[in-house]
Amino acid sequence: MNDAEIAAVISALPKAELHLHLEGSIAPGTVVRLAARHGVQLSAEDVAARYRYSDFFGFLEAYKWVTSFLRSPEDYALIADELFDRLIEQNVIYAEVTISGGVMLRRGQDVEANFEALRRSAERAAKKGLRVQWIFDAARQFGADKALETARWAVRLAPGGIVAYGMGGDELALSARELQPAYDLTRAAGLHSLVHAGETGGPEVVREAIDLLGAERIGHGLGVLHDPALMDDLAERGIPFEVCPTSNLRTGALDRQLGRKGAGLEAHPLKTFFDRGLCVTLSTDDPAMFGTDLLGEYAVAAALGFSPAEMERLAANSFSSALLPETVRQAYLARFRQRAGELGLL
Ligand code: ADE
Ligand code: ZN
Repeated sequence: MNDAEIAAVISALPKAELHLHLEGSIAPGTVVRLAARHGVQLSAEDVAARYRYSDFFGFLEAYKWVTSFLRSPEDYALIADELFDRLIEQNVIYAEVTISGGVMLRRGQDVEANFEALRRSAERAAKKGLRVQWIFDAARQFGADKALETARWAVRLAPGGIVAYGMGGDELALSARELQPAYDLTRAAGLHSLVHAGETGGPEVVREAIDLLGAERIGHGLGVLHDPALMDDLAERGIPFEVCPTSNLRTGALDRQLGRKGAGLEAHPLKTFFDRGLCVTLSTDDPAMFGTDLLGEYAVAAALGFSPAEMERLAANSFSSALLPETVRQAYLARFRQRAGELGLL
């Protein structure tokens, strides 16, 4: 298959996306609309400029800025509806979408009303063939008390479709030990545990996420590059890594992990991880903020040398790593494999 053929096949394939932040998915034009709703006049160029940063802290600042225009349940419904339409266009049939619960709480919002609006948006998406489950996440730099408060909200809202508690933000800002009460609480309530780790931090952040917080999947995980024994251990244990190449390029995480400036996507370790046996899944993280989408990330994988059969395994990993009951997961996998076969990927 040539590049165009593989792109067409990947586009037609039913896909899952597991690492995707709602608030990082707001297209520039929508930021302009939201800002206008709240009395702030912006141009698309203003947004584009805000969506460019030279390092991870610049990215976190931009995230803070864009979320400042999310003030009402209607704002949340708008961005969720738009995100889901873009996922449906790309044949994404299952998504786990992260909500920055910690940000809502910090801004003193009506979390219940916001989530109700999101839940309804997910119902609309389900009618169009996209199943959505939610991850409620705290920002690590907001501290242990806020993480615990966010965890309590995750538990309270769980019946509406929250399946996991997550941790984003600056992974170096707070030790895993300080986050244990929050994870203990959500785990006891039956929620899954997810952690961003090894995005900017080293292998010890990944190890602690698993050993101390019970992380079932790792967000990014680049830091294991520096600890081949850990990589092999996690490959053996089948812990999924949600890898987001364009995100890593744009936030400077890739440069930071590789210890040099100006690394391009060709230097991304996605294929190295895959070849070493890690269960890697492919995601966009904050697609609007990084100018990417899921099809774009699969094009990156193809450019990194994944064969069609390897692309099939990569895409299947997102279904096999989904936070779903085993029978549902298997049903998705069967549907995926059937279509992959029809499209000549197997
Ligand atoms: N929140 C949204 N995107 C994130 C990222 N890439 N890392 C940490 N926290 C985030
Ligand atoms: Zn993320």
